[in-house]
Amino acid sequence: PAKVVVLASGTGSLLRSLIDASRSDGYPARIVAVGVDRVCPAEEHADDAGIARFRVALREHPDRSAWDRALTDAVAAHEPDLVVTAGFMKILGTVFLDRFGGRIINTHPALLPSFPGAHAVPDALAYGVKVTGSTVHLVDGGVDTGPILAQEPVPVLDEDDETTLHERIKVVERRLLAEVVAAVATRGVVSDGRKAVIPSDRT
Ligand code: GAR
Repeated sequence: PAKVVVLASGTGSLLRSLIDASRSDGYPARIVAVGVDRVCPAEEHADDAGIARFRVALREHPDRSAWDRALTDAVAAHEPDLVVTAGFMKILGTVFLDRFGGRIINTHPALLPSFPGAHAVPDALAYGVKVTGSTVHLVDGGVDTGPILAQEPVPVLDEDDETTLHERIKVVERRLLAEVVAAVATRGVVSDGRKAVIPSDRT
């Protein structure tokens, strides 16, 4: 199976679901380590699952480029085929992107290019869109700008608040992320500028 390092900053519910998926029969990827940038519940999911973990906090480094190098080294030590950012709330640095570019998969709780950044769900609610959703994409040098691998819509209900809407989006994200990681682990990605394609099965 493909070796995956997952980066997270928060509750880690996407990490938890990817751990569960990766343990199902025949899943083509295995999580070899979990990295975080702060003390967070995601660390407990790694511990519960017996998966190696590391923490590389920005504030423990003199500047962003030192943090970037430290995070790159910590991830590289696990020799991953793929890196998944699942609720990782920091922008990855240039050293990291040079090392793992084209092999980093991010999940974002909106239909990109709408509502990039760290506040996608409240931004979508504030705008008043009737449909938002989940995007899984390759990470490039911008903020949520990389080639899109998969998207799925989620309707916004009149009575939604940030919590209810985000939770319904996460239900979709968990499934979509596991599907995309499996597909990329098996068949790779062909990316031509903006467009990224997972080749279909050659059966
Ligand atoms: C997910 O909705 C993920 O898409 C989002 O954080 C949440 C993490 O949930 N990521 C971003 O907003 C990145 N800009 P979790 O901590 O329960 O896995």
